[in-house]
Amino acid sequence: MTPSSHSVSVVAGGAGFIGATLCGRLLDEGKVVVAVDNFSRGQRDYLSGVGADERFHLVQADLAVREQTVAAFSTAARFGQVIEVWHLAANSDIPAGVADADVDLKDTFLTTVEILRAMKAHAVGVIYFASSSAIYGDLGETELHESIGPLLPISNYGAMKLASEALISAAAESHLSKACLFRFPNVVGVPATHGVILDFVNKLIASPEVLHVLGDGTQQKAYLHVSDLVSAMLAIRARDLTTKVEVVNIGPLDQGVTVKWIAEQVVARVRPGAAIQFGSGNKGWVGDVPKFNYSTAKLQSYGWQPVLGSVQAIQRAVDEVALQRQQ
Ligand SMILES: NC(=O)c1ccc[n+]([C@@H]2O[C@H](COP(=O)([O-])OP(=O)(O)OC[C@H]3O[C@@H](n4cnc5c(N)ncnc54)[C@H](O)[C@@H]3O)[C@@H](O)[C@H]2O)c1
Repeated sequence: MTPSSHSVSVVAGGAGFIGATLCGRLLDEGKVVVAVDNFSRGQRDYLSGVGADERFHLVQADLAVREQTVAAFSTAARFGQVIEVWHLAANSDIPAGVADADVDLKDTFLTTVEILRAMKAHAVGVIYFASSSAIYGDLGETELHESIGPLLPISNYGAMKLASEALISAAAESHLSKACLFRFPNVVGVPATHGVILDFVNKLIASPEVLHVLGDGTQQKAYLHVSDLVSAMLAIRARDLTTKVEVVNIGPLDQGVTVKWIAEQVVARVRPGAAIQFGSGNKGWVGDVPKFNYSTAKLQSYGWQPVLGSVQAIQRAVDEVALQRQQ
């Protein structure tokens, strides 16, 4: 086969938590995979499982910067025909984006702007976008299904994800052939780069006697293991739906577990006997959505179900993250 006959998948943010798992699964499909990352949070080490595969390439670039994005796509095109882009690059620290709006403007939104521009230049028609339940804002007990509105996010992260969805929708009208907007729940597993479990494990390593929890612990969210998340995205892609812009909530079938319960699991695994001290109020930080009622009816109508519910996903991830931190 000549290089131009290879099908190339570009994974933006490919050295991050979810990207590392996705790259492995795309290689399993026989694709050439080009991961692009600026290593602001991702690491080369996370890709050690796939790094030796000759069909895998890692490109360092800041995808919010036009010249670097153009250069990254030109590099990817040297390995074959780029047929799809998985856009996972973003800021994943919601409080950091609340403190400084530039963080999400740059890493969550401008990455979308520049990736779409490069896709147009290289005539790449298919994008899979990692959006978030954060785009829905705080709607309390209201069931969050894909067609609910108005969408009023309460964090800059959610706002820039929603703006990215809007931009992708507009690009679909002009130069894309297919766009999937995947709205993720909270995703757990390894290599953990952020999130409640890593936060608790790190806190217990630093301070073994007591775990300080942000908020009163009653926050309740749905959790999906990264292995299920990637399976769901690939299952949706395999359906080859005719809708040009497909919007899908991805999540477990249950309504999740509380932060208090997660804290108890982490303490039991990492520092049995440590005290748990809760903060006040039901929000962990400004922009935190304490409870949401996530509808995955559309995803289920496609015949997909996760292997692990929220309870099992957390239990597995607590062990995985503890091992990652050598506990
Ligand atoms: N993990 C979750 O619970 C969750 C939930 C909802 C949505 N998402 C979305 O899924 C995607 C992947 O999340 P993750 O948990 O793997 O986070 P992550 O931080 O581990 O991965 C994001 C990757 O993007 C890279 N990146 C950031 N800015 C970049 C830039 N300007 N140029 C190039 N690379 C850049 C980072 O270095 C990192 O490797 C993100 O878009 C995130 O917003 C994640």
